[in-house]
Amino acid sequence: MAEVPLEAPAPKAVVPFTPVILKHIHEAGSHTLDHYLARGGYETARNLVGVAEPASLVKIVEDSGLRGRGGAGFPTGKKWTFLAKGTGKPSYLTVNGDESEPGTFKDRYIIEKDPHQLLEGVILTCWAIQSHHAFIYLRGEFILGYERLEAAVREAKAKGFIGTKIFGKDFDLKVVVMRGAGAYICGEETGMLSSIEGGRGYPKIKPPFPAVSGVFKSPTIVNNVETIAAVTHILKHGAAWHKQWGTEKKPGLQALLPFRRGEKTGRVRGAARHHFKRNDRRLWRWNGGGPHAQGRYPRRPFGPPADSGDGGEVHAGL
Ligand SMILES: Cc1cc2nc3c(=O)[nH]c(=O)nc-3n(C[C@H](O)[C@H](O)[C@H](O)COP(=O)(O)O)c2cc1C
Repeated sequence: MAEVPLEAPAPKAVVPFTPVILKHIHEAGSHTLDHYLARGGYETARNLVGVAEPASLVKIVEDSGLRGRGGAGFPTGKKWTFLAKGTGKPSYLTVNGDESEPGTFKDRYIIEKDPHQLLEGVILTCWAIQSHHAFIYLRGEFILGYERLEAAVREAKAKGFIGTKIFGKDFDLKVVVMRGAGAYICGEETGMLSSIEGGRGYPKIKPPFPAVSGVFKSPTIVNNVETIAAVTHILKHGAAWHKQWGTEKKPGLQALLPFRRGEKTGRVRGAARHHFKRNDRRLWRWNGGGPHAQGRYPRRPFGPPADSGDGGEVHAGL
């Protein structure tokens, strides 16, 4: 039998990195409605809510390959298709902003510094899954985040982006911001749902999964803060735009929280499923799935990331 020469797969072209979700967080007043509107905020929701076929939006998110940013990485669009229909019960969107993993703070940045971006994602998601009620659940210690998100909900409500007949369309949406009591287990989705129901944050046995029987025993979608913020951009730019970064199985951009032992922590946003060398000293740990994710990077070469220091953003390289 003729020998087939082993060839290394051709490397995927590196698309220049463009900050997206964390793009505005260093700008003064980035948490205010005026700031968000000035950069085209809520235009996507205005264009799509009450206009676009909800199922077509679920399809875009499915096609984009977006995977949950809360740790498990489940495909977001697929999860939305599991939402039970025709149950006679209301369905809910619950946004997980518990973020209690030591050393993680990506969701906190979104909540504190760009809450309207998150709210637009909530509005779009609720239209896509046809839910009239969203809970955004925050870690108990996120006092500034709670205040800013509450203020953002009030601002959006005053403009008619949340509430009855949003954007003048025949669609009502209630958004409730809740704070937990600061228990790590409340980040686990069923623990969070127990907490939202007013009980202790005890996890529940699955199945049934939340999409069938979640909060108040009603069909419920649980998504992470960053996941929902990403939806805002995917529905604005399309599935192909999202897929230009990352790999086939894990496309898109993702907030990364590298830090070195004993030194200042940092935050980068890079291509999802980037390939760091295990022993890279600058990006020592990846907190996407918590500190225990350390060492999970495949041993593959990568273009060294531009080191932008503490709190900077880099293109992680593919
Ligand atoms: C102990 C534990 C803690 C968790 N903490 C969080 C958290 O703080 N934030 C979060 O989004 N997901 C957390 N998760 C994952 C959630 O259960 C769930 O998978 C996620 O919120 C789903 O959103 P996604 O699909 O958008 O990632 C945790 C899971 C476990 C087991």
